[in-house]
Amino acid sequence: SERTYIMIKPDGVQRGLVGEIIKRFETRGFKLIALKLVHATPEHLEKHYADLKGKGFFPGLIKYMASGPVVAMVWQGLDAVKTGRVMLGATNPLASSPGTIRGDYALSVGRNICHGSDSVENAEKEISLWFPEGIVQYTHNQAIWVFE
Ligand code: GTP
Ligand code: MG
Repeated sequence: SERTYIMIKPDGVQRGLVGEIIKRFETRGFKLIALKLVHATPEHLEKHYADLKGKGFFPGLIKYMASGPVVAMVWQGLDAVKTGRVMLGATNPLASSPGTIRGDYALSVGRNICHGSDSVENAEKEISLWFPEGIVQYTHNQAIWVFE
């Protein structure tokens, strides 16, 4: 089934929100299929955010994302891309609903603690970029209780 790339940004790691964010995806019923802590280089982050090159905030975004380690993850399950984005909340945390990750833990668009792929196509690109070594295969025994 569908996979999405979810990343806890350096502010999320520094603020001790790693467990909280993972917990939300786990308890929702998604299957964790990849996870690592990475201190990404600016070059790598420029590839990840290539679509935003040219925006005024781009240099600041790269500096922020390279300022410390991130948690890179792949989650799999029903409608993972769209549902993942709903769980993160709007890009600008001031517009994110309470109950979303950004709506519960963030205030500023430049410090919005998490990333989620915005399409199935971009999810697959981001998974290849962040996990070139590939992904573990295993049976998620909970799945029969989560999906019909
Ligand atoms: P990501 O999940 O991180 O990709 O966020 P998004 O898909 O909701 O937004 P988008 O891809 O358009 O922007 C990527 C990131 O750039 C955002 O999450 C913000 O951290 C940052 N960003 C976007 N717009 C602005 C802006 O107007 N100002 C600043 N400072 N940062 C911005
Ligand atoms: Mg985006």
